[in-house]
Amino acid sequence: MAPEQTDFLVIANRLPVDRLVAADGEVSWRTSPGGLVTALEPVMKLRGGAWIGWHGASDEELDDFEHDGLRLVPVPLSEQEVEDYYEGFSNGTLWPLYHDVVVTPEYHREWWDAYVTVNRRFAEKAASLAAPGAVVWVQDYQLQLVPQMLRELRPDLLIGFFLHIPFPPTELFQQLPWRRQILEGLLGADLVGFQMPGGAQNFARLVRQRVGHRTVKDTVFLPDGRKVIAKAYPISIDARGFEQLSRTPEVIARAQEIRDSLGNPRHVLIGIDRLDYTKGLPQRLRAFGELVSDGVIDVDDAVFVQVATPSRERVHQYRVLRDDINRLVGRINGDMGRIGQQPIQYLHTSYPREEMAAMYRAADVMVVTPLRDGMNLVAKEYIATRWDDRGALVLSEFAGAAGELKQAFQVNPHDINGMKQAMVDAMQASPVDLRKRMRALRKQVMENDIERWAKTFLDELAAVRDLGPSDGDD
Ligand code: G6P
Repeated sequence: MAPEQTDFLVIANRLPVDRLVAADGEVSWRTSPGGLVTALEPVMKLRGGAWIGWHGASDEELDDFEHDGLRLVPVPLSEQEVEDYYEGFSNGTLWPLYHDVVVTPEYHREWWDAYVTVNRRFAEKAASLAAPGAVVWVQDYQLQLVPQMLRELRPDLLIGFFLHIPFPPTELFQQLPWRRQILEGLLGADLVGFQMPGGAQNFARLVRQRVGHRTVKDTVFLPDGRKVIAKAYPISIDARGFEQLSRTPEVIARAQEIRDSLGNPRHVLIGIDRLDYTKGLPQRLRAFGELVSDGVIDVDDAVFVQVATPSRERVHQYRVLRDDINRLVGRINGDMGRIGQQPIQYLHTSYPREEMAAMYRAADVMVVTPLRDGMNLVAKEYIATRWDDRGALVLSEFAGAAGELKQAFQVNPHDINGMKQAMVDAMQASPVDLRKRMRALRKQVMENDIERWAKTFLDELAAVRDLGPSDGDD
């Protein structure tokens, strides 16, 4: 193979780091937001290979570079492409459509055109870097056309695809004017992975209905004899790494400092989310606010710390949400706070891993209540830091993680009274009950970590090579 080529490639919309240029021209790199990077960074550190992705700024062509032991290959986006491909088709069309139309998706033909153009750029970059017979792993909803484009350019490659967000019910997916192109794009892969079995089933049903291919269980039979497998692989985190971080004296001391600065209330509840309308922040804050106004909890006894990481800030729906939350937090704190005691501590910022670990350690109850979420890795991170088996998790039924984390206090995030009850149950549960639940949650998270996830997916992808062509009648 040519010297710059590699046997293992990951392609994602984002690189694991964003390039920041300060006013004085100084360049720095910041960990990119979101679960995809949390999950894949440790995989790549262990396995090597190259990571192709966008570096977060527009109109900049950068050379390949090494960062923290990873080989990173930047793909440029113009300002217009950021608007049309990233903010537009990826986050104004696909993101809301795939999250159960929590807000209304917009369909614009110029957004779609940019999506095709940028997907082709990623595919061409991968085609030039992949060694003969290499494994290429394409990630997430921003790049669903890449598998087919890449197969056309390089039929020798083994191509995997993993969708980090939910794959929607067939009734919703049908709205998409380009539904057939997306399905065919994904069918370019040998193995298409989803978070949940329901997503894989939705996909198989659509492939039958819309493309007309035969499917048997998790296998799609293509007319040219090729087979595509569509299956669920629930993603995870570097659980041991996160636990180790949370056991360091610095993190333990910082957790105590956080509790002290909150006035050492009996109950610290915490939410940590990207500021996204899928995360159910208004419902959650309203539920907590009502517990205070009903007199069920006293502001001296309990505080809710909500961290909202800035995200997609130029997209209209995200701006609306930000204003809504500012108003809601202001109203709750204004109505129910006292000098030195505010029921909600709202932080609109992002924190490094160490500070996140300290916040998890400081919290008695973690509240994760999205209206829809592919998996939710924050819930798993919280559990990884609870090595003393203390603490409680309140978890939405509509997060993928609910499929595995059965001992959480599960809630329907649309049911405000139900959420109030779950928060009270979590605060008032006996230490014995909490310990029993946390032990079971920890067993699940510590055993099913990110390395196991990556190994399972990649082993099954390698096995597709041995499946051979279909005889057409099994
Ligand atoms: C989710 C998506 C990722 C995305 C992340 C952050 O986790 O599945 O693909 O990278 O959100 O969103 P952003 O738009 O900032 O990349």
